[in-house]
Amino acid sequence: MANNAAIRVVVVTVPERLDQEWISRLAAEPEIARVDRVAATTAGVDLIQQTRPDLVIVDRDADQAEQMVRQVFTSLPATICIAIIARVDTSILRRLVAVGARDVLGRPLQYAELIQSIRSLLATETDRRSRALIAFDGDRPRARGRLVVVISPKGGSGTTTIATNLAVGLRQVSASRVLLADCCLQFGDAGVHLNLWSKHTLVDLIDHLDDLDDAMISSVVQQHSSGTHVLLAPNTPDAAGDITGEQLSRVIDALLDRFSYVIADTWSFLDEVTATLVSRADDVLVVTTPEVPSLKNVKRFLEFIQREGLVHGKITLVINRFPSVDGIALDDVKQHLRHPIGANIPSEGRLVTHSVNRGIPVVLTHPESWVGQSLLKLAAHVAGEQVATLTLAPARPRSKGLAALIERRGLFGFARRES
Ligand SMILES: Nc1ncnc2c1ncn2[C@@H]1O[C@H](COP(=O)(O)OP(=O)(O)OP(=O)(O)O)[C@@H](O)[C@H]1O
Ligand SMILES: [Mg+2]
Repeated sequence: MANNAAIRVVVVTVPERLDQEWISRLAAEPEIARVDRVAATTAGVDLIQQTRPDLVIVDRDADQAEQMVRQVFTSLPATICIAIIARVDTSILRRLVAVGARDVLGRPLQYAELIQSIRSLLATETDRRSRALIAFDGDRPRARGRLVVVISPKGGSGTTTIATNLAVGLRQVSASRVLLADCCLQFGDAGVHLNLWSKHTLVDLIDHLDDLDDAMISSVVQQHSSGTHVLLAPNTPDAAGDITGEQLSRVIDALLDRFSYVIADTWSFLDEVTATLVSRADDVLVVTTPEVPSLKNVKRFLEFIQREGLVHGKITLVINRFPSVDGIALDDVKQHLRHPIGANIPSEGRLVTHSVNRGIPVVLTHPESWVGQSLLKLAAHVAGEQVATLTLAPARPRSKGLAALIERRGLFGFARRES
């Protein structure tokens, strides 16, 4: 819905319901450009999907209205839905609002009530969108953002733990616009690590590749209480099936125009989607643990991406859960991988498990801990700070190094510096 532009309306009804005279009156209203009338059939739904109206009025029985509103809201999140039903009680009202209805009107209904509802929703929507645009315009990064891809060729190495803490940590150390994109298309769990859930996911942006404007993006990305933005992975594994590297690349382009850092969490195999991300990355953080199977895969992975010329950005090898009991020695790791180790994150099972289970990153729950400090240092390193990212023993007395850096810059108040 462009500001101040007349809107397109679709009315889903049966012939004997919403009066044809009302439909003609609606079409004559100054804020309405066009009104189409469809039945709640597959053809009607298809028409809505294709024409993507600004407003859908569903005038059906409560159950059908619920189904229809859900269909519209989940596929076209920017479209406003009004439901008209026979009798409004709290239970049906809650059901309809839960699936995305913005207003629910009961019969008997006066035309004045309907147009009043439409005007009030349009006013709110215009206000909401102009604020969303301001939020982007006022804080849009001057330069194109950096794409940071976090990847491990071995599942369970800690990629998501590192990606989520890195995103939140980067927001703290740089106070810039940071977005975590969960590109683990089938079973992405960045939302779990951050205690966020939404029906709006990457799929909504993939479905609207030609309309990736500020309003669309701000209606899909979530904002974490730390100020970090999050683009969630599809909610069902089958939704991931058709997403191609080229499509994801277009989404990443739109995000890099709006965020200083886009952190991509990835799954552990090098398919077309992850290969595209790796090839486009400014920074690739390759995660390993100090165990033979993980090191074997990482060695092959590094050899492959370098041999194929796949990577153009900077590679930082991150050894997670190091040091750990009975782990391999650092020299052995270096020798085996023939690659410098850029950073280590210690194994602190109690703190990390506690934080993952609560859905609060350890950089927030225990920023002064060894693991918290290591993750914050990694964030500072990605932000271009000169910091020592290899710490093989906890600092004693406890280092306030990075905390002091953040404090000096007045960034501890990050949670209140929402943008
Ligand atoms: N530094 C650490 N210290 C202790 N536990 C850790 C550390 N890093 C990760 N873990 C634990 O390891 C487990 C796997 O972590 P995570 O989900 O981040 O890995 P992943 O590589 O994203 O896995 P997947 O392949 O399933 O996506 C989690 O239970 C997490 O709590
Ligand atoms: Mg993961």
